[in-house]
Formats: sequence, C-alpha cells, structure tokens
Amino acid sequence: MGVQLLLEHLNKPEINTIDGYIKQGGYRTLDKVLGKMTPDEVTEEVKTAGLRGRGGAGFPTGMKWSFLDKSTDKPRYLLCNADESEPGTFKDRLLMEKIPHLLIEGMIVSSYALGCRTSYIYIRGEYMFILRILEKAIKEAYAKGFLGENIKGSGYSLDLYVHPGAGAYICGEETALIESLEGKRGNPRIKPPFPAVSGLWGCPTIVNNVESIAAVVPILNMGGSEYAKIGIGRSTGTKLISASGNINKPGVYEIELGLPVEEFIYSDEYCGGIKGGLDIKACVPGGSSVPILPKSLLFKESNGNPRLMSYESLSEGGFETGSMLGSGGFIVYDEKQCIVKNTWTFARFYHHESCGQCSPCREGTIWLDKVLYNIEHGLGKESDIDLLWDIQHGIEGNTICPLGDAAAWPVAAAIRHFRHEFEYHVKYPHRVKDDDHVYQPEMNYTTA
Ligand SMILES: Cc1cc2nc3c(=O)[nH]c(=O)nc-3n(C[C@H](O)[C@H](O)[C@H](O)COP(=O)(O)O)c2cc1C
Repeated sequence: MGVQLLLEHLNKPEINTIDGYIKQGGYRTLDKVLGKMTPDEVTEEVKTAGLRGRGGAGFPTGMKWSFLDKSTDKPRYLLCNADESEPGTFKDRLLMEKIPHLLIEGMIVSSYALGCRTSYIYIRGEYMFILRILEKAIKEAYAKGFLGENIKGSGYSLDLYVHPGAGAYICGEETALIESLEGKRGNPRIKPPFPAVSGLWGCPTIVNNVESIAAVVPILNMGGSEYAKIGIGRSTGTKLISASGNINKPGVYEIELGLPVEEFIYSDEYCGGIKGGLDIKACVPGGSSVPILPKSLLFKESNGNPRLMSYESLSEGGFETGSMLGSGGFIVYDEKQCIVKNTWTFARFYHHESCGQCSPCREGTIWLDKVLYNIEHGLGKESDIDLLWDIQHGIEGNTICPLGDAAAWPVAAAIRHFRHEFEYHVKYPHRVKDDDHVYQPEMNYTTA
C-alpha cells in the first residue's frame, strides 16, 4: 500500500464519529493552527505544499487563496464544492460518508486561513443521506467546541452549514454553485469578477473541492515542505482516484501522484487488471469531461516515457496525444466496448445538463446527442462524422462556463482516436442494430 494521507484511517472503528476520529489524531491541526499561526502562514504552508485543486482544473490552492480580496471589510466565505456530479467520479462521497470529520477539520483550518466567519458545504441533492451524516458530524463538532464561538479559546469563531443542491450538474461549476446557494437558478456567471473578489452575495469567496479541503489537514500536520516531497514534479501529494469500468477491482484508491498508469490498471493493489482477461481498448482518466485515450497512448507519452498518473503526464502532448487528470474519474474500457455508444452516453448527459444560457452549448449539445444517437443506432450518414466534428468545434471555447468544453472534448477525442468505429457504424448499420444496444424509442431523433 502506497502513502495514505486521506484514507489512512478509513477502516478504523468509529472513524465516522468525533471520538473515533480524535482517537486517530483527528482535530490536531486546531491546536497547531488556531491562534498559533497567522492566517497568512497557513496559506503559505498550502502554497509550499504545492497542492492543486482536486475538483478538476488543478489550479494551485494556495495561490487561489492568496487572490482573496482582503481590501474590503465585507464578510468572506469558503464554499466547499461537494456537488460531485461528474460521471465516473465518486471519491468525495467516500470521504464525506466515511470520514466526515476530516472535511470538517479541513473546513475549520481553511476558513481560518481565509478569515471566514461563516462557511458552507454545498452538496449534491442526490447525496441527501451524506448531508445527514455531515450534519450529525457538524453537531458533534459544535458540542466539542470545535465550531461556533471562540473555538478552543483561540478567539476564532466559525459557523458551518451544509446546503443541498437539487440534482443539477451545472451547480458544480463554482459560480453556478454560488447562484444556487443564493437561492437562484444555477446559471454560471461571467468572469471576471472572479469569486475571490465578488462571490457569494457579492463578497470575497473561495470555492474548493472536498478533497482539496481535506488535504489541507495532512499538509498542516506534516508541514507543506514534507507534503511537497510526495508525488512528482508539480503534481505533489496524493490523489483519490475513482476507478470504474471493465476492471477487476473498481473502487476509490488513494495513489501517490506519479504512479505509472499501467501499474494502476494492472497491479492487484489497485484496479487488478481487465475483467475476464480481455485486452484494454481505452481509458477516460479524469471523468467524462476529459478526452478518451486509446491503449496506444495510455501507457506511454509521445516521447516514449511511461505515462504517469499526474497532471503533467496525463496531459502530455496536448489533446492530440494526451488527456487530463481532471477529477480523477478513471473509466476503463475493454476491447469489446463500443466507443460510439459511450460517446453518445456522455453526449446525452451534457445535453440534459446544459443550463441553456449560452446558445452554442444549449443548441450544440442537443445536436451532438441527436447525431450520435443516429450513428449509434444505424441511422447515420458518413457526413455525420464531419458534422459532429463541426458541432463540437462550434461549442468549444464559446461558452460562459466550461460545460461546453466538457461536452465537446469527449466527442473530439473519440473521433480523433476512433474514427474507424464511427465509420463502421455508418457502413454496417445492420450490425450495430443487432448489437446489444440500449434503444430509447421515445428519443427517435432524425437529423433531417
Ligand atoms: C460543469 C462543471 C461542473 C463542475 N462540477 C464540480 C464538482 O462537482 N466538484 C468540484 O469540486 N468541482 C467542480 N467543477 C469545478 C469548479 O468549478 C471549481 O473549479 C472547483 O470546485 C474548484 O475547486 P478546487 O480548486 O479545489 O479544484 C465543475 C466545473 C464545471 C464547469
């Protein structure tokens, strides 16, 4: 087992209770940080650690914190993004469900660093049972004096609330999340201004992923420079990977960044190889939004070096030959899987989840879904493949938020690397009709 910073105590008895968590050394950072370190010193530790946001974009957390506008006396807010709706990603769920106090401890010390008096955890509506777990844990923390007025006599006070979404993927986008938290429809805002200057109720706000905030706890316990020694290059620390698809051991794994992709897939410590001894065809390494990588590019970078589980290595070569680490939603496809069907499944998702605010995304995602439906169901024309390429190109970069890019990239990558499968579907419509495909008669689209 490699280094475990977040899941180390996952299977310890009663780790979900405050006493069980304290028994494993939980809430130590409160004594170390509150009133002992200045908020800027805490931010410096996180910067030194090199922690990068675990929500998808990989933006350096300490740097983001340092953008918080401190020139105003408005309240400041830390919002924990627990919306976790990216297909293939289910790691935040594990953390919150099993070790809720790790997140709460992270929220307390991070809020201290940012000078927040009130903070929120925005959780996806489908995680209502986890909301209850978090609320119970927050109540325990208040009872111990770790939340509320004058925490542990430090002079620092914090109130923490959990707020549920209502099942919209778009509310994971940070400005849509803020709108939703304000009680409005979750439409993303135009940036700038960035939330760090004008976020929740027009006040300086930081939005961070659950895993990013949880990682602040080991960083402060071990010190930023020690944390930075774990991992590789600018990909420091550990990362939770949600592994799914045609593998022997699906689940959430904490890996040290820099682990070879091949080892992650084939080692018994992690995915345990491909189910049924089949060959691997492809992998989506970072959640449904990132480009799919065919086997030929998955294990080696374009320069011949082994492809590693890191921000840099997974994106090496740009989208021609690379992908992204994203949120760590690692979906593996065996040789029998149909890439067209998978691409259509993703496209349906983005069509359903587009907020409709920007025309290229609102209209483009409908058309990606329609055209892919047709190709997948033996109703496609050869020109549809180029049409798909044009549609995704018309969405990418032309929307207020990156949901448009997230819809476009998987389609572009599927055509780039698996054009032959699209051509096969067009050329042999009767064969794909006979396959084990899911038909949805009510979605009987035509491109005419
Ligand atoms: C459509 C969309 C959905 C997103 N969903 C999530 C999500 O569920 N969780 C998350 O942490 N970040 C999500 N993000 C990224 C957030 O906008 C933001 O970058 C992130 O919460 C910042 O946290 P980090 O810096 O700790 O990664 C999403 C982005 C987009 C465009």
